[in-house]
Parts: sequence; C-alpha cells; structure tokens
Amino acid sequence: MADKRSIIILDFGGQYAHLIARRVRSLGAYSEIRDPSVSAKDLKDAAGIILSGGPQSVYDTASPVADAKIFSLGVPVLGICYGLQWMAKTLGGTVSPGKVKEYGHTEIKAVNGGGILLKDIGDHCTVWMSHGDEAAKLPDGFQLTATSESCANAAFEDPRRKFFAVQFHPEVTHTEHGSEILRRFVELCPATPWSVEGYAKRIGDEIAEQVQDRRVFMLVSGGVDSTVAFVLLNEVLGAHRVQGLLVDTGLMRKDEIAEIRAAFDRLGVTNVRIEDASAEFFHALEGILDPEEKRRAIGDTFLAVQKRVSEDMGLTTSDGWMLGQGTIYPDTIETKGTKHADHIKTHHNRVPAIQEMLKKGLVIEPLKELYKDEVRALGEELGLPHELVQRHPFPGPGLGVRILCAAKPDTFVVDDVGIKRWGGGWAVLPVKSVGVQGDGRTYRHALALFGKEPCTLTEQLLRFAIEIPNRRREFNRVLLCTSSAEVRPFVFSPGAITKERADLLREADAIATEEMCLAGLYERIWQFPVVLLPFGEKPGGQSVVLRPVESQEAMTARAAALPAGVLERMTQRIMKLSGVDFVFYDLTSKPPATIEWE
Ligand code: XMP
Repeated sequence: MADKRSIIILDFGGQYAHLIARRVRSLGAYSEIRDPSVSAKDLKDAAGIILSGGPQSVYDTASPVADAKIFSLGVPVLGICYGLQWMAKTLGGTVSPGKVKEYGHTEIKAVNGGGILLKDIGDHCTVWMSHGDEAAKLPDGFQLTATSESCANAAFEDPRRKFFAVQFHPEVTHTEHGSEILRRFVELCPATPWSVEGYAKRIGDEIAEQVQDRRVFMLVSGGVDSTVAFVLLNEVLGAHRVQGLLVDTGLMRKDEIAEIRAAFDRLGVTNVRIEDASAEFFHALEGILDPEEKRRAIGDTFLAVQKRVSEDMGLTTSDGWMLGQGTIYPDTIETKGTKHADHIKTHHNRVPAIQEMLKKGLVIEPLKELYKDEVRALGEELGLPHELVQRHPFPGPGLGVRILCAAKPDTFVVDDVGIKRWGGGWAVLPVKSVGVQGDGRTYRHALALFGKEPCTLTEQLLRFAIEIPNRRREFNRVLLCTSSAEVRPFVFSPGAITKERADLLREADAIATEEMCLAGLYERIWQFPVVLLPFGEKPGGQSVVLRPVESQEAMTARAAALPAGVLERMTQRIMKLSGVDFVFYDLTSKPPATIEWE
C-alpha cells in the first residue's frame, strides 16, 4: 500500500523471500516482496532493503541483478547469501567459487565483536549455509564481522552506510540467533509497525474506500481464507451489502457442504447461496489430462457459475457489485510472482478473466497482504470458531488437483537406484508428479519402496527419501507402499476426472481425515492431501497416496510421521474400498517434491 513504509525484500529466486518477509513481519515491521528489476526510484520510500538468496552465481550471465542505485537511497540494506555476493560485487569487492560448497549446518565465530548485527554471537554459532560462491575481497568501507572454517568472509558490514551482509540464512529456524540478527537490522529501519491485531480495523477503512457505495459478491469455499475474507467484508460493509456463493464443484470433501452450511449457521451468517454445479464441473473436465488445463477449466467453470448466479440474482458489476476473493499474499506472488520465483502453477483466482477484472478495479481482496498464519490470527480476532480457523488448507480446485490423469503409462526403466542396503523391493510408478528441484519446477517419477513392515517409518526410509532424489535426478518422490510387502506389477488405466474417481477419492480422504483426528494428529499436521493415481493391480484399479506434511507457509514442507498403528488402520480401511489396489505413504520433503502431486 502506497502510504506504508516497508522493508522490501528483493527476490533473487529460491524459496527464501517469503521466509524473510514472514520473519520481518513477525518482528513487527511491515515487509513486501518485489522483483529485483524494480528501479531504485520506486524504492525511495522503502524503510530498508533485504537482498534475498538465490540459486545462481553472480558471474552467470543470466543471473538476476538489482538497480545499483539502491545503495544511494540512504536506507539500510542487508544482503543474504546471493544477496551478499551481489552486494559485494556491485560495491567493488570480488566474489569467487568457495573452497568447498557448503550446505547445511556450519559453525561461525564473531570477528571484531560481530559488529552491529552479530553482536553477542560469540565463538560458536551454528548457522544454515547453502552456497558455492563466497566474497573473496570486501568492498571499501566494510569490516569483517564473522568467519567460518571454509568461508573466511561469512559476514561483514559497513556501519556508517548501514550496509550488512551475511553468507548464511538468518531467516531459517536452524540458524542460531537468526531472529536476533534480523531484529537488529529491522530496528535500524523506520518501517510501519505491523501486527495482525487491529488489522480488521485498519483494513476496514481501505475496504470502505475501495468499495465505496458498491456491494460485494463473493465465492466462499468454507476454507479459512475465503471465510475470514467474507466475514471481514460482512463486518465492514454490513451483511446487506455482501452476498456469498458456495459452489458445490463435486470436487469437495465428503459432507463438506453440509459442514460449511452448519458452520455459517452457527456464525449467524445467512447471506450465502449454495449452488450445486457438480455436473457442470465434471462436464468441463471431460477428457482433460494436463494439470494446468484442469486448473484453467475449473477456474473458468467457477466464473461461468458465478456469472450465471450473479445475473440470476441481479448482482452484476453493472448493477454496482464487485467481486470479492480470499486471495492471500503467497498466492499473488506465486502466480504473478516476481520474475525469479519460478512459475510453479497458476492459481485459480488468477485466471485471465480475473486478471482483466483486477485491472478494471472490480475485484476486492482484503487478505492479499497476509500470510496464512496471519489470516488465522485475524480469524480468531474476528471471533470465528477455533476449529474453523485451524482447518487445514484445501486447494481451490479441490480434489481436482488430487486425481492424477493420464492417457498412457509413463514408464521409466532403471536397474539400480543405489539402495543396496535396502532389504526390500522397489518399483518405479508409471506416472509423474510435480516437484521443485534446484529452485525450478520438475515433472518426474516417484520411486516406491516395499518392505517387510510396510507401515513402519524408519530412519533408514527417511534417509532414502533425501538421498534418492539427490543422487538420481530422475526421481522427485520416494514412497513407501503400506498395503503390500512385496512388489506387484502395476496395471495402468487411462483416466481423466470422473464422478466415480472423485467419489472413490472422497471416501479415501474421509478415512484418512477421520483416523488422523482420532489419533489426535490434526493440529500437528499442516495439510494432508490424499491423491488418486490411475493404476492398480488389475485393469481399472487405482492407487491412493497419503501425503501428510508439516509446514509453516507451504514454501517448504516435510513428510509428517504417522505412527505405525495409525498408518496401518488407514491403509486397511482404504484397501477395503472397492477399486483401490495399492496404498502409498509419501516420504518426500518439499523440495524436492511439492506438497500436491500436480
Ligand atoms: P505445492 O503443491 O505447490 O502447494 O507444494 C503449496 C500449497 O498450495 C496449495 N495449492 C493450491 N491452492 N489452488 C489453490 O487454491 C491451486 O491450484 C493449488 N495448488 C496447490 C497446496 O494445497 C498447498 O497448500
């Protein structure tokens, strides 16, 4: 927002920019992510600038650069990892390949008392490093503030100009004192104070100003984001100026519509119309196999239903209605993105038709600046029930992105996957899934392991899940088959999204959710996708993947450990569903896999 002074994170790529922005906000300062190509002129009101990490070397010809004039704005600048290297090179230092590439935990020690930023880190501070290059010579005016065994210039600063550089990542939780280091930088920046408490009140004026005397029509899904946005709009504008529409896409969870209706009833929200459009969605998805095309078909159908209902109810833009959406900050960045955050997938509320409406100022998105945990805090502030606010995120296209579709098997023959120590069998699945490897999107195979105790998660299995995609780049996922101890041949069946497949996945998903809740795991697990794959032991047979993850902002994630008993019960119950031949447990972190399979 124009009148806010923010700490700007220039996104040089990788997965770090959001983590930095979140940390800065949790330290009480407003922060935003921008593309590094933004001109220094546009950043003249920034309270401070943080240059993020990124996967490239500053000497690659295509590596991202920012406007060097940012160093003349008189604002504090912090360079992290690649940001340090670009800063060093731009200000007259040199960067060269390090003696060794460092990934993971490293010990650093303070030099010159650690300067301003690393004051008090002492002689043993464990930090998270991930780099190949390093600064060889510091630019004029800088003094060294920390060193490590393999990286002589691990941190340096120019206290006069308030320029700081750290080779390690203070934004990740593995870095000791990471928060204090960022806090010291944030304290030097005159940023607009930030907290979600009171956000409802602050945003109220902006909503009123943007909507003016119009009214807002909004699609609600029952998820945290759209419910919080809807209730906020109701609160600010009054229920008579807001109309909700809940579309039953046929791709929702079991009993979800009834549960959402009951939740709204309990909240006293009556301005929501429920529209069963499932037949329309299945029709639009007929024969579509490509994940991005599916997203587009779902997004377009949402719009068509919305158009029909809004015309039917006299709620069109020509009648003075705007469109409300529950878009949150990472969604905006992921699709429109900054250039260097690789385009992973198009968000359904950023399809071209919506982009057009956005340009015309016909869309209101009251949560577009917030992260998920901030939306949850706002929901609590608005008095929404705790269970609703803590609901797991569910993607807009619903089960549509969890039903894998393919016309033919995608086989991949390999003799050795380098796991001789593994006492069991293994097999490559005949389908591919999306991942993020080396900061780019990949579309690769999953390797399934079969063991004597199929439901027991061991240290060895978790190690394989890291080692295999690292060593064999053909794989981005590692699974454990929980329904069979022995390898059985996979029989592929071509399939798009059909009501039958959606019904089958809905049942499997309901079993996983029920068992997770019974085991008291709901609040520990961040999200639990259950995915349907088009192969089994016999023609028409399907497979089910359990994908529980722990995460904070979905930018990174790791497989959540399910106790053997829970996994066994889930597997046995899902195997009883007619048409399910295999159950797998996805052990992969993000990266190298994504949370969803497509
Ligand atoms: P990935 O699979 O990229 O997912 O690790 C990150 C988060 O985004 C959700 N997701 C979506 N949400 N529309 C949505 O509204 C989509 O098309 C979509 N794709 C992924 C996913 O569930 C996870 O929380």
